[in-house]
Amino acid sequence: MTTPHILVADDQTDVLEALKLLLKGNGFDADTVTSPAAALAALERRDYDAMLLDMNYTRDTTSGKEGLDILSTLQQLEPTMPVIVMTAWGSIDNAVEAMRRGARDYVEKPWDNARLVSILATQVELGRALRRAQRLESENKLLRRDHLPQMIAESPKMQPILQLMERVGPSDANVLITGEHGTGKELVAQWLHASSPRSARSFIAVNMGGLSEGLFESELFGHVKGAFTDAKTDRVGRFELAESGTLFLDEIGTVPLSLQAKLLRVLQTGDVERVGSSKARHVDVRVISATNANLQQEVSEGRFREDLLFRLNTIEVHLPPLRDRREDIAPLAMHFLRRHAARYRKPLAGFDAGAMQALLAHPWPGNIRELDHVIERAVLLAPGEQLRAADLGLRGGSGAAPRLEDLPLEDVEKLLIQKALSRYDGNVSRAAQALGLSRSALYRRIASHGL
Ligand SMILES: Nc1ncnc2c1ncn2[C@@H]1O[C@H](COP(=O)(O)OP(=O)(O)OP(=O)(O)O)[C@@H](O)[C@H]1O
Ligand SMILES: [Mg+2]
Repeated sequence: MTTPHILVADDQTDVLEALKLLLKGNGFDADTVTSPAAALAALERRDYDAMLLDMNYTRDTTSGKEGLDILSTLQQLEPTMPVIVMTAWGSIDNAVEAMRRGARDYVEKPWDNARLVSILATQVELGRALRRAQRLESENKLLRRDHLPQMIAESPKMQPILQLMERVGPSDANVLITGEHGTGKELVAQWLHASSPRSARSFIAVNMGGLSEGLFESELFGHVKGAFTDAKTDRVGRFELAESGTLFLDEIGTVPLSLQAKLLRVLQTGDVERVGSSKARHVDVRVISATNANLQQEVSEGRFREDLLFRLNTIEVHLPPLRDRREDIAPLAMHFLRRHAARYRKPLAGFDAGAMQALLAHPWPGNIRELDHVIERAVLLAPGEQLRAADLGLRGGSGAAPRLEDLPLEDVEKLLIQKALSRYDGNVSRAAQALGLSRSALYRRIASHGL
C-alpha cells in the first residue's frame, strides 16, 4: 500500500511536533497546519488519506465550535476522506456531535499512541475501500431500479396496515396517515408513493406546520412577479412541482381555518392559481397527508373543516405507537444498529441480553424516531462489538418506569393521562372522570400533548 498522507490540524505546535514524529515512525506521511482555515487551504493543494482534527482552538477553547463548523464543510468538500477528531478528555458530547457531522472516529487527549495509530490505519484502509466502492456504486446505480423504502413491520398489529398499504399504494386515493410523533408517517407516505405508478415522478413534501399564513399560498400555489413586495420573480408552487407525482402535506392539522377553505377548493377542482394571477392551471397530483392530531376531534371542536377532512381521508392509515407493537422493537433496533454501524464504520454485531431487555422494557414515548436516536448514540459511544445496556443510556435500564419526581411537570401530566386512557381502554369520558377533568378539558390536553 502506498504511504498514507495524513493532514494534522492543531494550534499547539508542540502537539503537532509530537504527532508528526509519531506518524512518521509508523509509516505515515504527515503535513501539519495550525488552524481550520489552513487545513482547507492544504486540502485544495492535494489529496489526503485521512485527517486528524483538533476540536479546540485557543480562540474558542471550550465549545469546540470552530472545529465543529469545519467538519460540516469538510463533509461537503471531501465526503470520502476520513476525519478523526481529537477532543479534550471528558468532552464526550463534543465527540458525539462531531461524529454526527461526519467524523469517523475520535481520540481523547492526552492520546494513547498505539490507539491513535491503530485508528488511523483502520480509517485509511476503510477510506480507500469506500472510494473504490463509491466508484462502483455510481457505475451500478444506472442499472438498478429504485425500490421501496425499507419498512420493518413484523408485529401482528402492523399486518392489516401493510395489507391496506399494498391495496391503496397503487391507487390515486387520497390517504391520511395518523399516529403519534415518530411512528413512521413520513416513511409510509414515501412507501405509498414508491409503490404507485407515480413513483418515477416527484414526491414533494410540505411541512404545513412550518408555513406562516403569509407564505402559505405562495408556497403551495406559487406567485407571479410583483404579486406582493417580495415577489421579485415568478415562483412555482408545490402543487405544480408535484405534477403527475405525489404531494405530501405533513402536519395538516396545523392549517388555520382561514386557509383550509383555499386548500379545499384546490383539492376539489384540481385547479391552482398562482398568487397575483387569475389564470387557473390544472394539476394532476395525488395528495397524501399526515397528522398527529385527532382530526375528528378537531372537527367536532370547530377547528378543522369536516369537508376538508372528507377530501383528505378517503383512506386512513393509523400507525400504532411503538409500545403497542413491541414485536417490532428488536428487528427495528437491529435495523438501526446495522445502518448506523455501517455509517459510522463501527464493528458492531448486535446487542447483549441486558441491552435487549432494556430496549424491550422502555416505553418509547418518542416511538421509532426515539429508538433510532438512542441506537445512533449508542453505536457512536460503544467500545466493544456488542451494545450493552449501559451504552443505551436509557433511564431505568432495568425496565422500571421513570420516577415521577424525575420528570418535568409537562411529562408527568402526559404520563398520567396516558395511564388513565390505557386503564379505561381509551374511553375518554371515564378517563376524564378518573382524572377529575371535564371531557373537553381532557381532549384539549390530549391534543396539546400530541396523544
Ligand atoms: N417501520 C419502519 N421501519 C424502519 N424505519 C422506520 C419505520 N418507521 C419509521 N422509521 C424511521 O423512523 C424515523 C421516524 O419516522 P418518520 O419521520 O416517518 O415519523 P413521523 O411519524 O413522520 O414523525 P413526526 O410525527 O415526528 O414527524 C425515520 O428515520 C424513519 O425512517
Ligand atoms: Mg413526520
